[in-house]
Amino acid sequence: MDVIALDDPTDAQIRQWHAVLAAVHAADPAGEPAPEAEHTAERLLGAGAETRLWAVPDGAGGFAAVAALRLPGGPGADRPAEIDIQVRPGHRRRGVGGRLLAVAAGGLRADGRSSVIAQVLAGTPAVPFLESYGFECVVTLRGLLLRLDDLPEGRVAGLVAAGPPGYGLVRWRGVVPDEHADALARAKDAMADLAEYEGTPWDAHRVRETAEMVAKRGDDLYTVAALRGPAIAGFTEVVVPLGAAGRAAQYDTAVVPEHRGRRLGIWVKAAMLEWLATERPDVREIETDNAGDNVHMLAVNEELGFRWQRESREYLARAADLPR
Ligand SMILES: CC(C)(COP(=O)(O)OP(=O)(O)OC[C@H]1O[C@@H](n2cnc3c(N)ncnc32)[C@H](O)[C@@H]1OP(=O)(O)O)[C@@H](O)C(=O)NCCC(=O)NCCS
Repeated sequence: MDVIALDDPTDAQIRQWHAVLAAVHAADPAGEPAPEAEHTAERLLGAGAETRLWAVPDGAGGFAAVAALRLPGGPGADRPAEIDIQVRPGHRRRGVGGRLLAVAAGGLRADGRSSVIAQVLAGTPAVPFLESYGFECVVTLRGLLLRLDDLPEGRVAGLVAAGPPGYGLVRWRGVVPDEHADALARAKDAMADLAEYEGTPWDAHRVRETAEMVAKRGDDLYTVAALRGPAIAGFTEVVVPLGAAGRAAQYDTAVVPEHRGRRLGIWVKAAMLEWLATERPDVREIETDNAGDNVHMLAVNEELGFRWQRESREYLARAADLPR
């Protein structure tokens, strides 16, 4: 079975790639909006040197399967890579996924990475597939969805008005303004419980780099932070993907330990909803993943009106344990 590297994908290859995503989605929608061709093209063309792409031709002019390996942080960075493999339903259980995993593992080792992560939905073939190659589940995430039309009138305004005394709100779109970059990096470290296995401290450079990556994909990142003097006490991030069809994704939300217990988490999230209502009225839904044991964040999201939708899992494997 051939695996081809797509270092500089052509228009036809981008269309074939999209056809695989569409076929996988059609077989198992999992409540997600269908992928849009324009978005796939933007992602592949904007992938840059940090992302390696491979495909398996189906012998009939299309692709049977595709794989993307993201190598964040530049060559050899001490951070886990991220793998995503998609095999057309009609080509499964013939070793295609395993072959792509072996090729991606070669790319991983060539880059000097020691581990790789994959985020997949519970109850799908991805779970036995990854486990059969020695991946271990490191986080279980509850997928929640907030439908903005279901929010009771006045709830968001009431929560924003109930902000704790002594704190102020600041917000920005895209990359963090210079004056808040170090403070945001410190606040991101407050999420250490979730990022533990990554083992990489945040600094202003990594904060900017992450936001630039979102912009390169064509997506919009919105951040709302609670300030105490110059320090960021808590923050929340939402990404509106290009061609989002009305659905935005919640990214990080964190409150620094010494500021917890003052309803800062719900405050910044409510302020985000208020801002999006005017800035991005096209957004009708927000999805979020919470660690199953993160009872505080689950409670905040429930109070805001998020409802359980699906469970996903993050899997991790060491490069040395992957097939060759
Ligand atoms: C997960 C996925 C990539 C697997 O692709 P695949 O080509 O069928 O995988 P392989 O044929 O290489 O399977 C290797 C092994 O994984 C396990 N496996 C894969 N699918 C399985 C399933 N549905 N049930 C039980 N075990 C399964 C088996 O041990 C299999 O070996 P076997 O067929 O000899 O028993 C494919 O099902 C898919 O595209 N799913 C949707 C997208 C997705 O969730 N991707 C995961 C992101 S990494």
